[in-house]
Amino acid sequence: MRHFLTLLDVSPDEARYLLKRAAKIKRKLKEGKAYRPLEGKTLGMIFDKASTRTRVSFEAGMFQLGGHALFLHSDTTQLGRGEPIADSARVLSSMVDVITIRTFGHDVLQEFARYSKVPVINALTDLTHPCQILADVLTYEEHRGSIEGRTVAWIGDGNNMAHSWINGAVTFGYRLKIACPDNYRPDEKMLEAARVLGADVSLSDDPVTAAYKADLVTTDVWASMGQEEEQAEREEAFDGFCVTDRVMAHAHGDALFMHCLPAHRGEEVAASVIDGPQSVVWDEAENRLHAQKALLEFLLK
Ligand code: CP
Ligand code: NVA
Repeated sequence: MRHFLTLLDVSPDEARYLLKRAAKIKRKLKEGKAYRPLEGKTLGMIFDKASTRTRVSFEAGMFQLGGHALFLHSDTTQLGRGEPIADSARVLSSMVDVITIRTFGHDVLQEFARYSKVPVINALTDLTHPCQILADVLTYEEHRGSIEGRTVAWIGDGNNMAHSWINGAVTFGYRLKIACPDNYRPDEKMLEAARVLGADVSLSDDPVTAAYKADLVTTDVWASMGQEEEQAEREEAFDGFCVTDRVMAHAHGDALFMHCLPAHRGEEVAASVIDGPQSVVWDEAENRLHAQKALLEFLLK
């Protein structure tokens, strides 16, 4: 039994296998061919935070694979009324075959996984968002071929997505150049761990330095879920960190732009960039479906 709590829970070879399967499963769907290896299986989806893409991609994906998905928001389950995580994990995992969790603390996810009898998938925590990285690399490679040895620029908050891009540098072998304000750097331990595992990750406080000759420029919101009250303070701290046409002009001419969405036009990204010709954000969002179907198949077969 395997969990997927961070990208590093699968080996680089397994991650490559997942991307290959995702492409194949996507092709089958586009050709209208049914593929239902998970008939009779149930996915339990626990959400402590809002979601559009993650919820719909897991729910639709499970249905397409022949299974069934249950949306379990903490507002309407006993989890939200304080039932212990360990008890919830024991009970839910005795009834369903796989579980996704979107929550705040990564420790909550880890504790749930410790007591679960079935695979647990991280559907976003404050620390990481590994499903998104699978979709993002799939998207890059559909457009530009192998990401290995390419340069990715992360501009913005050192948040859960930045951490996932750091782990991705280990798994997929791209060079990662991060630009963020001093007080919003990624977790030092995660950075160090990635470097020990051979990742080429550099850090600066200058978006242009990060974007210089990049093959892919990516960003995310300045205030993540749970940080809403810091919005004004963060807007001030991130002044100058918007991915504008001027920033994109320092990247390679054929560089792509990505954003996990939802986006705030005029804050972390200019409308002309996210809605412009280098942006692949809609493909990126769609690929959540295909990448996660491959992941569900991998964990359940
Ligand atoms: N990118 C992403 O996870 O989107 P949602 O918050 O809508 O699920
Ligand atoms: N960093 C964002 C990602 C949303 C998909 C958040 O955690 O809110």
